[in-house]
Amino acid sequence: MSQKTKELREIAKYNSQQVKYYEKQKKRQKVDASEYLTQMRNPDNVVEFDNLNTYFFTDIGTVHAVDGCSFDIPKGKTVGVVGESGCGKSVTSLSLMRLVSGPTGQIVDGAIRFDDGERVVDIAKLPIKQMQQLRGNKIAMIFQEPMTSMNPVFTIGRQIDEVIKLHNPEMDKKAVKTRSIEMLEMVGIARPEGIYDSYPHQLSGGMRQRAMIAMSLSCDPQLIIADEPTTALDVTIQAQILDLLRDLKDKINTSIMLITHDLGVVAEMADYVVVMYAGRIIEKGTAIDIYENPKHPYTIGLIASRPVLGKEVDRLYSIPGNVPNPIDMPDCCYFRDRCDRPCETCGGEYPDLIQLSDTHFVACHLYNGGEQE
Ligand SMILES: Nc1ncnc2c1ncn2[C@@H]1O[C@H](COP(=O)(O)OP(=O)(O)OP(=O)(O)O)[C@@H](O)[C@H]1O
Ligand SMILES: [Mg+2]
Repeated sequence: MSQKTKELREIAKYNSQQVKYYEKQKKRQKVDASEYLTQMRNPDNVVEFDNLNTYFFTDIGTVHAVDGCSFDIPKGKTVGVVGESGCGKSVTSLSLMRLVSGPTGQIVDGAIRFDDGERVVDIAKLPIKQMQQLRGNKIAMIFQEPMTSMNPVFTIGRQIDEVIKLHNPEMDKKAVKTRSIEMLEMVGIARPEGIYDSYPHQLSGGMRQRAMIAMSLSCDPQLIIADEPTTALDVTIQAQILDLLRDLKDKINTSIMLITHDLGVVAEMADYVVVMYAGRIIEKGTAIDIYENPKHPYTIGLIASRPVLGKEVDRLYSIPGNVPNPIDMPDCCYFRDRCDRPCETCGGEYPDLIQLSDTHFVACHLYNGGEQE
């Protein structure tokens, strides 16, 4: 047996043991409430990610999809999570929903504290049964392609009715329908009665996304997760849906976690921005910190690569190079090989997150005794 095959066998064996261990933890029947009941570090937050580590234990190696991420989602605010494809944005949100694709995908460390309005739980340790009660109830999710999350055989109205009935068992049929129609009106549907009786496939993409948003809001969630909510739509409809989300944000005082690779979208919507690269947070701050004073060369590159209306460019700028292989990350800064301002210390350990102001953090050697500006 070659050395390589032997190594792969060992990795596969080790990883299948890991998976078994975490699955067993999850399947425990009796979990004492003291394991998952907790306190927020700051009661103004609805979510606190605290050193979240989510890995995929595959046969060829371990993917550190989310590798020690910490950030907060304050109540009533929108937090944008940005970064190139594959940097761990979706896995972060799926961890929060406890929907990471198992059994290979597992939350292996850290806490996800969530204030559901009555108590604070650590979602990372919450028994799945209780998690199911939070999903679609206290935490709603808007997906990229609403067709996949709606049931094609029921009318839009019936699907929204069901959500409302589930959360308001005391309401009679008529009141439920009135509420559903109100929800459709709230998301800017001009002919709510007609849409109420339509099936998902009868609607256009934009209309479907509106109906989907109505459905997710009808349970009055504490938090809405929107993962690339407009990517599948054409540009005009995208703008309309963003307007809608912005408008709703003021109306309903819910927090939004907005995931996108489009910094333009985040600029319009977010109060805070988290920039991810290869499973780690490389910069975070208020939207103003990030747009007016970006520090990490990666953030600066992302901002430069976003298309700006009215600005003529021959070719859209994109950051050269690729994200390193997630199974085999270097021991130094993951962005080093693509960076246009590498300094001597960049070959050393992965940089810590350095605090630049009350709100602004960056993980880059340039600001840690490396070359100064
Ligand atoms: N089921 C899986 N098995 C193994 N690796 C996975 C799995 N799902 C995701 N990954 C890996 O986890 C990392 C993070 O993926 P994630 O889907 O969070 O990226 P993303 O930032 O949402 O990207 P995109 O912008 O393309 O949606 C990637 O390296 C990806 O290959
Ligand atoms: Mg994604």
